[in-house]
Parts: sequence; C-alpha cells; structure tokens
Amino acid sequence: MEKELVFATHNPHKFEEVQQMMPKGLRLLSLSDIGCTEEIPETEQTLEGNARLKAQHVRQRYGYDCIADDTGLEVDALNGAPGVYSARYAGPGADAQANTAKLLQALSGNARRNARFRTVIVLTEGSAFRYFEGVAEGEILEAPRGHGGFGYDPVFRPSGYSCSFAELTPEEKNAISHRGKAFRALQDYMARY
Ligand code: IMP
Repeated sequence: MEKELVFATHNPHKFEEVQQMMPKGLRLLSLSDIGCTEEIPETEQTLEGNARLKAQHVRQRYGYDCIADDTGLEVDALNGAPGVYSARYAGPGADAQANTAKLLQALSGNARRNARFRTVIVLTEGSAFRYFEGVAEGEILEAPRGHGGFGYDPVFRPSGYSCSFAELTPEEKNAISHRGKAFRALQDYMARY
C-alpha cells in the first residue's frame, strides 16, 4: 500500500514544489486533503520549535505522519533577528515591503551586514522527530535589487554572487537556497525511507 505523509503547509506553491521531490510510492497529502483548515500555532521561539509544533499538531489531531518547515533570516549585527519572527518583523500582518524597510533601517550605517537564511524541516516518525536543515549565507544589501522571489529576497546577496536572490531565476535560487538544501536533505533521506 502507498505510504501517506502530510505536508503541514497552507501554501499551495510550496506544497507542489515539495510533492515533486517525494519518492515514488509515497503520497504527499495537503492539509486540505485531511480536512485541516485551522491556522496551526507557531508560538515557539526557535525555527526547530515551530516546525515541531506544526508537525505535532497534525500528528496528534489527525494521526498522520507529517513534515513541517520553518524559515528565518538571521542577521548577525541584530543578534539573529528577525529570525523566527521574519514573517512579522514589522508587526502582525506586515508585508514583505514593510519587513524589508524595517530591516534596512535597523542596519542603516552598519557595515556589518552578514546574514543567513535558515530552513528547518521536521519529519515525524511515529512519536519521534527527525530534523533537516539548510543554510544560505550572504549579506544584506544597502537597497533592494530585483523583482523575483519573495520576502527579503531583494535585499539578500548570497555569498559568491554579485546579485540579490531576487535577481536569480527560481531554478538558480533553488540550487543554492536554504529551502532547496533542506528539502534535498529530506529527499535523500526519503529515498531510503
Ligand atoms: P516560512 O517559514 O517559509 O513561512 O518563512 C517565514 C518568513 O521568512 C517569510 O514570511 C519570509 O518573510 C521569510 N522568508 C522565508 N524564505 C524566504 C526566502 O527564500 N526569501 C526571502 N524571504 C524568505
């Protein structure tokens, strides 16, 4: 029988991307497939904690094994902020433009601009959790560049590149991004599942 695994995201774009990475014989279910329409709480203070919380929610309420991810931008000069609060750095419901403006303001006049995107994925295996991580090192630009991607992409220059994440094609970004690396680590593990 085909093995089933839930991906705890309400983002259909992310779901589709990850679905394509799963091995044959494994059916990835969305939250709507299992009737989960509620917002899943993300109240922990670490990426690992939030990813685990989401996976645990699905496991406990719906009884499925599950994967869940959480990503943050960690800026060294800001002691790791915005980190786990990246989506709402400029306040609840803030959009990418407001978050980015707040980040540039916080680093204004600061020459120390190194930062990293970090993605953590949790896979439940019964009551156990397995963690996967992907990191993209880089620095925060002085001003936004490019129109691709989302979130903080226009102000993030990956190490070894002279352009921002927002100036790369989706394929180029995926090849070096935090999320790409984390999901490829999961994919390698799943191939042996
Ligand atoms: P999530 O955990 O994937 O929902 O990411 C949380 C937040 O981190 C997003 O709302 C974005 O602000 C930011 N973020 C995550 N991944 C990226 C990325 O690849 N580029 C730019 N910003 C990102």
